[in-house]
Amino acid sequence: MRIRQRYYDVFSYFYDWVIKLHSQDKSLWLRHYLSRKSGVKSTDKVLDLCTGTGALAIILSQYTPQGMVIGLDFSLGMLKKAREKAKTLKRKNLYWVVADAGALPFKSGTFDVITCSHAMYELTGKTRRLALENIKRCLRPGGRFCMMEHEEPKHPFIKFLYHLRLLSMGKEGREIVRHELEELKNIFTNVVKEITPTGRTKLICGEKGN
Ligand SMILES: C[S@@+](CC[C@H](N)C(=O)[O-])C[C@H]1O[C@@H](n2cnc3c(N)ncnc32)[C@H](O)[C@@H]1O
Repeated sequence: MRIRQRYYDVFSYFYDWVIKLHSQDKSLWLRHYLSRKSGVKSTDKVLDLCTGTGALAIILSQYTPQGMVIGLDFSLGMLKKAREKAKTLKRKNLYWVVADAGALPFKSGTFDVITCSHAMYELTGKTRRLALENIKRCLRPGGRFCMMEHEEPKHPFIKFLYHLRLLSMGKEGREIVRHELEELKNIFTNVVKEITPTGRTKLICGEKGN
């Protein structure tokens, strides 16, 4: 765990630059897309899990002027970058929390919406199981969970890199991707998967039953 945290602390210095290069500037658009699809309302309490440098949390806070958004990550380096970016915006409804996704420090039923962008595949083994249990616990009944991940690329080289990433998740990697819909359907209701109009990203949303 510590090694992964350190890895992300170092990665935080380059992260936004890599994303810009990789997403060909679609990243901002995709984060607005996810925000709208999450059904977030102006008074909602939102948790952005594994927020990284806070790009999605910052955008979500535009949608919740009378609510609040918490960006959570286990890397202090990532959260420092997030705080720097948010400072100039002077949002009063945006907070940062250092914690592990598998041990969320919030009361049950706190959030209306929980999001996770490009990080569900980082969570494997016991952490993944605990994270999913915690997401469900921390959502209010009827609350929504929305995750965004890359769809399997068509270009052979990019496809190779995609599968390399899955391999880096250990032997579980491929299984997680193969069974993610069933996994989520066992936890949430009304689980729907869609491919975004970019054709390169997928969105999966579900609800906590009443
Ligand atoms: C690929 S980045 C995605 C960041 C951001 N959500 C985005 O869309 O740009 C993955 C993030 O997950 C965080 N992360 C990985 N495992 C975690 C865990 N167990 N608990 C909390 N954060 C975690 C990392 O620190 C990193 O910031």
